[in-house]
Amino acid sequence: MTSILFKVNRYDPESEEGSYYQRFRIELEKDELEELTVLDCLIRLKEERDGSLTFRHSCGHGSCGSCAVLINGNNRLACETFVSDLLEGDEPEIEVSPLPGFPMVKDLVVNLEGLFDHDRAVKPYLLGERKTGSEEENLQTPEELERIKEAMDCIMCGACTAACPTYWDNKKYLGPAAFVRAFRWHRDSREEDNSERMEVLDDKKGGVWGCNKVFNCNEACPKEIDTVGIIETLKREALGF
Ligand code: FES
Repeated sequence: MTSILFKVNRYDPESEEGSYYQRFRIELEKDELEELTVLDCLIRLKEERDGSLTFRHSCGHGSCGSCAVLINGNNRLACETFVSDLLEGDEPEIEVSPLPGFPMVKDLVVNLEGLFDHDRAVKPYLLGERKTGSEEENLQTPEELERIKEAMDCIMCGACTAACPTYWDNKKYLGPAAFVRAFRWHRDSREEDNSERMEVLDDKKGGVWGCNKVFNCNEACPKEIDTVGIIETLKREALGF
């Protein structure tokens, strides 16, 4: 039997208590440990110990991005983080907090409106007139698709932007998640005129120039997208290279 101390952030906007860590001890058999994720434990805590514990989740398999939280100091998807990978020492502890950089709503839930506002700002859709006319399919070759495939893996969980020190200091900075989404459309072979989006990306306060290559975003991305590489490409394109 393994005993794990879970420290889970609690915050109720209607209470004057502020945020604090509630401690839960969970005892697990060796065989159940193998497949158990942090999300499984949170669900168990909510069902068996405290029904008021609040967190987001949906797909349970790394597709929807809704379960991103800070686990032992790293932004991670709770549904893809195995408890067995977090066990250290004789008295293992797992600390779960909301994503940093966004306003707390309740317990592990943050307000992601800023993330989605910045996503809308980079115009995540094809710009320009369609050359082929509306009657025909706007085709793309497998090679052209390959250029944007990595960026298409983004699930908009917000883990990268929440890990970015520039975003912590400057909420006007669009942040890595918005840049990855911008790149996906900017590099799409079917886009005809990306100048409108490039103007947003080239902005001195909010655009790509705020990236200081700290690499926190690359480390946080659950899909292993090379976000810094993408931002560097956008910088070169903004300069016309
Ligand atoms: S619940 Fe959908 S990504 Fe974790």
